[in-house]
Amino acid sequence: MSFETLRHKIRTALTNENDSIEQRMMYVCELLQTSIHYYDWVGFYFANDVEKTLHLKAFAGEPTDHTVIPFGKGICGQVAVSNENFVVEDVKAQNNYIACSLHVKSEIVIPLFKDGKNIGQIDVDSHTKDSFSEEDERFLEWVNKMVSAML
Ligand code: SME
Repeated sequence: MSFETLRHKIRTALTNENDSIEQRMMYVCELLQTSIHYYDWVGFYFANDVEKTLHLKAFAGEPTDHTVIPFGKGICGQVAVSNENFVVEDVKAQNNYIACSLHVKSEIVIPLFKDGKNIGQIDVDSHTKDSFSEEDERFLEWVNKMVSAML
């Protein structure tokens, strides 16, 4: 499915006020994970600024033990602090990395901003090395903007 078709489906789903916010986010995870062949795991983490932890709120793919991640730990925890996209071509080359599955070879994490504040992120894992391009970055930034507008 093209990014354009996905954008259309995501816009429609996220503005459907008959579904709860959790249902809409779950739909987005499932849509992305099933429609893009190299998106093997897709999840949204949200920050608890008091505890300095990230919490998994919705995901599609294999269940993970890492539902709570401290700021600074792993790729996700680093993005909670840096406020910047993190594209990992080869997870084996990272020393601050949390392995959710031995199959994962590359990963992309894009921060999600609400009113200029980094409140969470979308995390995508791939079983193929070097899966993510600038097109994925722009697309996932857009997904986060749509989610942010719904919150
Ligand atoms: N690999 C991530 C942890 C989350 S899992 O990919 C679902 C990290 O290093 O932060």
